[in-house]
Amino acid sequence: CFQVATNVTEQKHHVSRAKRGQILGHLRGFRGCTIWFTGLSGAGKTSIAFELEAYLVSRGIPAYGLDGDNIRCGLNKDLSFSKKDREENIRRVAEVARLFADSGQICLCSFVSPFAEDRIHKESDLPFFEVFVDTPLAVCEQRDNKGLYLKARQGIIKGFTGIDQPYETPEHPELVLKTVDCTVEQSAMQVLSFFASLLCPV
Ligand code: PPS
Ligand code: MG
Repeated sequence: CFQVATNVTEQKHHVSRAKRGQILGHLRGFRGCTIWFTGLSGAGKTSIAFELEAYLVSRGIPAYGLDGDNIRCGLNKDLSFSKKDREENIRRVAEVARLFADSGQICLCSFVSPFAEDRIHKESDLPFFEVFVDTPLAVCEQRDNKGLYLKARQGIIKGFTGIDQPYETPEHPELVLKTVDCTVEQSAMQVLSFFASLLCPV
């Protein structure tokens, strides 16, 4: 059985981030970054992130959504919902998001990501923005779009976030979205206007 890889060294690209940005274009001086949506299951992360992705792409702004359900069907299909595996899930996704952001895309990540210390780009100066999709547990449970809360309450699903596993509420998110009484479109536009306010004037 093999040990973890040793004797590997970082290889430098020949194309700078600035050069990529010139070619890919940019949104008023703003290039690749990660916008990280965190919140309980059913909070609205996927819907808002995918709405924003479609909006940006339709305007020629490179954006790509990485989503918990999808990533767990592919890259991370070997991972469970234990604390350790959730950390590994988010570690891998953050690495992928960094690559997207470095390549000039707006990478929209929608993951429960219950542990605060995982929600960051470690050892990187790429822009990372945490968006807390702040939908109360009672509302998520009432929506129960996938029937998962019912199963968690019945004990069929163990280790469900907010029921029998913790969710660490973001302490200093860049943006908080209250989704109650808001449409998905309105929430997506809130994210957009927040970022527009960060960007340099045209
Ligand atoms: S995590 O905590 O960030 O690793 O989770 P994530 O990769 O975002 O996957 C969350 C989606 O998986 C489904 N699901 C669960 N969520 C939370 N806890 C448990 N135990 C669980 N089991 C399955 C659920 O569809 C989540 O999607 P969302 O969109 O959040 O509802
Ligand atoms: Mg989702």
